Amino acid sequence: MRAVQVTENVWWVGAIDWNLRDFHGFETPDGTTYNAYLVMGESGIALIDTVKKPFVPELLARIETVTPLSSITHIVVNHVEPDHNGGLPEVMAAMPQAQVVASVVGAKSVAEYHNGLEVGAVKADDVIDLGGRTITFMPASMVHWPDSMFTYCPEERVLMPNDAFGQHVASEERFADELGVDEAMRQLAVYYANILMPLGGVVGKAIDKVVENGWALDVVAPSHGVMWRPAEFAGVLDAYGRWNTGVLADKVVVAYSTMWGSTADLATAIGDGLAAGGMHVEVHDLAVSPFAHITHDLLEAKALVLGSPTLHHGMLYRVAGYLQYLLGLKPAGRVAGIFGSYGWSKGAEKQLRLRLEEAGLEVIADDFLVKFRPTAEDLDAAAAWGRDFAAAVKSRG
Ligand code: FEO
Repeated sequence: MRAVQVTENVWWVGAIDWNLRDFHGFETPDGTTYNAYLVMGESGIALIDTVKKPFVPELLARIETVTPLSSITHIVVNHVEPDHNGGLPEVMAAMPQAQVVASVVGAKSVAEYHNGLEVGAVKADDVIDLGGRTITFMPASMVHWPDSMFTYCPEERVLMPNDAFGQHVASEERFADELGVDEAMRQLAVYYANILMPLGGVVGKAIDKVVENGWALDVVAPSHGVMWRPAEFAGVLDAYGRWNTGVLADKVVVAYSTMWGSTADLATAIGDGLAAGGMHVEVHDLAVSPFAHITHDLLEAKALVLGSPTLHHGMLYRVAGYLQYLLGLKPAGRVAGIFGSYGWSKGAEKQLRLRLEEAGLEVIADDFLVKFRPTAEDLDAAAAWGRDFAAAVKSRG
């Protein structure tokens, strides 16, 4: 068990969760980390964030490789979601001398979550003097919950923005350039698509506020995954800028579920037609592809084409499940199309349209439906539908 030095007086003391495969419904095939940091002054030491409850012993063990638990003077709760705050009572018990602070909303939420546990509140620009090192704060409501807060150490030029700029990846590497920048950027996009997509506007405002504060950044140290140095963080800001403002590419995600293969055959034909129409295409069987993977593909896609056969007058449950997943992420600004097969009754397409529109997607084409098995002519027509759909998406700019 070791701590990792981040800068002269900042240390990473978090926990590595190699085995996490599901983060409240978001598939995490690569695990995650719960990052915590020590900011060490001459007269005080602040622990920035705690960890998910089962990982408290790992956090405490890493801290003790740097300093005794009795030397910690402050605990900062940047976010009360249980992956960061679940172990707070146990950490407080291990360092009872430490003063605990959160944002104003965070302090209220800690009490609500932990049976009345009382912690202090800090506001924007409040400063805690650790002796030669200080930490200051910026409330960042809805990045990711109302209580979220960024903590900054100006002398070390380290920003600890909690969920912002994070990635769900477990690794021994602590910096993006060590993990591999391409992999870190891929994980950043997966995380953004599945956690922050509906919050792009407020995330953009938080970034503007960091710039307005004039906070120089040598290290950006999120609460999940690897840290970013300036060279790589420039790419992160570019990507967040695109995602926050909804810059989309000529790309279409085709997702479907199938009973006996007819809707799957249509998906392939439609994918071919979309590609012939100049779209980059990703096709996903909802029985095979994790929702998080599909949503990652959707992050920069202009359209989602969703397919289901009709079963008992409605859509298949996997399609309904993915629509429910999307409903929370509100992928606004994208358009949609509907396809599928049916036997003795239609009906799935009506449910699809309702739920797609509820999720903020405008359906821009007539539904493409086929009875029983698609014939060769039906598959040609599906490809033609795909080409027409691609043209309709392109015509919207
Ligand atoms: Fe990493 Fe919103 O918790």
